Amino acid sequence: MPGFVEKPEPVQVPGLVHLHTGKVRDLYRDEDGNLVMVASDRISAADWVLPTEIPEKGRILTQLSLWWFEQLADLVPNHVISTDLPAGAPADWEGRTLVCKSLDMVPVECVARGYLTGSGLKEYVQSRTVCGLALPEGLVDGSELPAPIFTPAAKAEVGDHDENVSYEEVARTTGAETAALLRQTTLAVYGRARDIARERGIILADTKFEFGFDKDGTLVAADEVLTPDSSRFWPADQWQPGRTQPSFDKQYVRDWLASPASGWDSKGELPPPVLPQEVVAQTRAKYVEAYERLTGQTWS
Ligand SMILES: Nc1ncnc2c1ncn2[C@@H]1O[C@H](COP(=O)(O)OP(=O)(O)O)[C@@H](O)[C@H]1O
Ligand SMILES: [Mg+2]
Repeated sequence: MPGFVEKPEPVQVPGLVHLHTGKVRDLYRDEDGNLVMVASDRISAADWVLPTEIPEKGRILTQLSLWWFEQLADLVPNHVISTDLPAGAPADWEGRTLVCKSLDMVPVECVARGYLTGSGLKEYVQSRTVCGLALPEGLVDGSELPAPIFTPAAKAEVGDHDENVSYEEVARTTGAETAALLRQTTLAVYGRARDIARERGIILADTKFEFGFDKDGTLVAADEVLTPDSSRFWPADQWQPGRTQPSFDKQYVRDWLASPASGWDSKGELPPPVLPQEVVAQTRAKYVEAYERLTGQTWS
């Protein structure tokens, strides 16, 4: 049964109530009722949270999300209240911790795709649709779609695949008005981010947003946005439809896990092995490169 190879014990901080240990983030509630989100260096692949951490990954994801939230601020408000460390928090939380508005989360992973790959490709090959949306014939792995599409998914528990659902299914879950707002916001934000990434030589193939409603009933962007964990970023100069694209994310780890070198069978009973230092270093370098190319800032 996939999940955590070793589930970490939550760090206890006076004044913070530990709520949840996610695949990557630890969630707490502070005394003001706000959410404290701490991005760890954990990495998940093949439905497992691996036993090896990628140094600084949580910090890179947090800083990249913050940068994107700013680029998108005129399109959608975000949940960030402060980047100040809560009193008594360990020094290691610096740079990876966000104090956020606690939202009423919409139980839909809001995915936008501008290119065909992954679970979208799988469905396309079977039915020429993605999330029930009809697409033209002749598309291959990595093809650009005629226009970006909203392909929502139902959020799975740790260790399970998210499941693509139709727009009608979302409308049944959230109501028609919210579904329309989710689709419109997801596509607007994807369009902006795709254009920014394109200027920097990066194709934003697809990305996942999570939204929630605040006390006033406003739709707010939550969680992380436009990181290599929530998106597929492809170097534009190597884009070549018809094959798997090189990418700035966990592809390196996934490829290693699938290779004979790991000695691991993803369909077997055993948890994935510890990552060799080389794989850790290469993976970290990919995250740093994504950060630097997108933001134009040096990672330090
Ligand atoms: N502002 C928010 N209010 C409430 N929940 C949130 C907010 N932002 C993010 N979350 C939730 O916090 C969790 C983040 O932890 P993460 O490790 O990414 O979890 P997951 O294993 O679900 O991907 C997710 O369940 C996400 O839906
Ligand atoms: Mg997550």
